[in-house]
Amino acid sequence: MSTFNDNFLRACRRESVDRIPVWFMRQAGRYQPEYRKIRKSLSLMDIVHTPDVCTEVTLLPVKQLDADAAILFSDIMTPIGAMGVDFEIREGIGPCIDNPLRTATDVARVRQVDFETELPHVKETIAMLRRELSVPLIGFCGAPYTLACYLVEGGPSKHYAHVKSMMYGDPTTWHRLMESLTDGMIDYLRFQADAGAQALQVFDSWIGSLAASDYRTYVKPHMRRLFEAIRASTDVPLLHFGVNTGHLLEDLKDAGGQVIGIDWRTELSEARRRLGPDVALQGNLDPGLILAPAEQRRARVDEILSQMSMNGYIFNLGHGVLPMTDGAVLRDVADQVHAATPPTR
Ligand code: CP3
Repeated sequence: MSTFNDNFLRACRRESVDRIPVWFMRQAGRYQPEYRKIRKSLSLMDIVHTPDVCTEVTLLPVKQLDADAAILFSDIMTPIGAMGVDFEIREGIGPCIDNPLRTATDVARVRQVDFETELPHVKETIAMLRRELSVPLIGFCGAPYTLACYLVEGGPSKHYAHVKSMMYGDPTTWHRLMESLTDGMIDYLRFQADAGAQALQVFDSWIGSLAASDYRTYVKPHMRRLFEAIRASTDVPLLHFGVNTGHLLEDLKDAGGQVIGIDWRTELSEARRRLGPDVALQGNLDPGLILAPAEQRRARVDEILSQMSMNGYIFNLGHGVLPMTDGAVLRDVADQVHAATPPTR
């Protein structure tokens, strides 16, 4: 039996590590032939609701990539279905909702539920994974704003026009929606931690669409409540990630999380300078660089590593793995990171 590799958890807590931990956002998915084969007979949500298959899909990249953490295979929409909003995940598009939430009456459709009763198979998957894994298991949720983007728009969006018209035009309804999603995600994250998740990542993928002042008015109080509530009930590390967040970094840190995920548009050295030493950083190779010639990609990985000389660093991409990715290249990146000298301070 192999010993437990806790480098990821140690890095989250800014403790010293034996090697720089690495995992990849969306490390399980369409780029893997094994995943595509499973998806021929099962939908994404079928996988999520079938513990042995979900366990297999979660474990696959951990072994193939020598990742220092596993992330529960699921989607940000999993708890939303349980909360009474029907959705469909369309291939190549993403989550779609036929009856989007646009009015106060629509927003009232979002119910608070007991995830223990609603999602017993998720609990079972987490338990199975904990028996199998020798690296930590990350649970996750979508942040209220990013979830609202799907719920209000009805699907992926470029300009978030419906979101913004609700936010500015009917702030009472907007805040009610954010409160309701925040309550739901607090329960859902606690549920995952109680089931055995050893770290929790909050994905605020679309938050970069807001100006900093709007983030502070319409989103940040809810994010703060979310992080504080989880912090009060569990000591698992919390990771806070968003895309296009160069203008928001200080506010994201202030909202909460022991680890801030940085996308590739902001240099890690700049993020470290702006956020200070009392937070861990995660990121931030452009997922597009996985498609670049090897020399160029390796040089960029080295450049990223050279900027992170302090404890409290987790290597990752700046956003999720692209479907065109070759798994062997991801493995090469992981090997390169693992071969680097870990930070000493
Ligand atoms: O990282 C992992 O390995 C865990 C799996 C995971 C999925 N979704 C599975 C999935 C995670 C962490 C997510 C989170 C998620 N889902 C986010 C936040 C992270 C991010 O990338 O910003 C968002 C915004 C979503 C919403 C969503 N679901 C999108 C945009 C898509 C892709 C649509 C497409 O087909 O390109 C999905 C579907 C989805 N979720 C897939 C996977 C593996 C695509 C493959 C499939 O349909 O089988």
